[in-house]
Amino acid sequence: MHLIMSKKKKNLPDIHWLYEASVQNVDTDLDFGKRVYQKHWKRKPLTVREDFCGTAKLAARWAQRNKLHEAWGIDFHQPTLDWGVKHNVSGLTDQQKKRLHLVCGDVLEAETPKVDMTFALNFSFCVFKQREVLREYYKRVYQSLNEEGLFVMDIYGGTESIMAKSDDVREIPGLTTPDGMKIPDFEYLWEQADYNPINHDTTCHIHFKVPGFGRIEKAFTYEWRLWTLMEIQEILLEAGFAKAEVYLHDFDDEGESDEIFRLRKTYENVQGWVAYVVGVK
Ligand SMILES: C[S@@+](CC[C@H](N)C(=O)[O-])C[C@H]1O[C@@H](n2cnc3c(N)ncnc32)[C@H](O)[C@@H]1O
Repeated sequence: MHLIMSKKKKNLPDIHWLYEASVQNVDTDLDFGKRVYQKHWKRKPLTVREDFCGTAKLAARWAQRNKLHEAWGIDFHQPTLDWGVKHNVSGLTDQQKKRLHLVCGDVLEAETPKVDMTFALNFSFCVFKQREVLREYYKRVYQSLNEEGLFVMDIYGGTESIMAKSDDVREIPGLTTPDGMKIPDFEYLWEQADYNPINHDTTCHIHFKVPGFGRIEKAFTYEWRLWTLMEIQEILLEAGFAKAEVYLHDFDDEGESDEIFRLRKTYENVQGWVAYVVGVK
């Protein structure tokens, strides 16, 4: 991660706050998983694992939501986990903290007790660029699940996902951090710097522009293989999942996602979409 500010400004907001506010909506993700879990297994899920958990916002929220819930989070980057413990876990009650377990490890190796739902969000599994490695990861997820288990991941696509572009700007509502820092409304900028049509490798950056603080260039950079929906479904089945399902949104009058995710078999080849892909054990 590189922080190159256009002007030197002090007290720059922590990029993790900006990231969480821009790209995470953990209640929407958890509600989606719960709804699909109940559809398949006719009961409420109780245990959740968040792979590539970063600041563990989703795992912490699951532990917080119900006293019967228990959650695990896995990430191999200890400083990000530490940030999550400080900012997402410290506000939990002692009981909630006891039901949250953070593991510093590689998702290809780490062991956890079996859970009802495993999540891998914000396209994180795209770090695995070889089919064999992705299949190995999916096999490990399969093993991490109870017999009544569900794996939820997300992926983006559309005609504009396979081109270099840097015009994706969203205005994000400001926030006040728990330690009292006021962050004004700011801009989230998604740049697809490079896409190689031969192997689907893509390099993407997240930049932020915060009024009064300046531009935070390349706050986060990702080197991914942009997997297709069909590849993901096939590899889930190869890894042992009984079913692979794709849930996609429609569009509102402004052409934005309506955020209602429905099971789809066909879809218009639009400019951009974000799908949940579900593996049913
Ligand atoms: C895009 S962030 C996802 C953060 C958050 N969970 C979300 O949904 O927005 C990717 C995270 O995956 C972690 N990561 C990448 N490869 C990993 C691996 N093989 N095992 C564990 N964590 C990994 C990185 O340290 C980083 O925190």
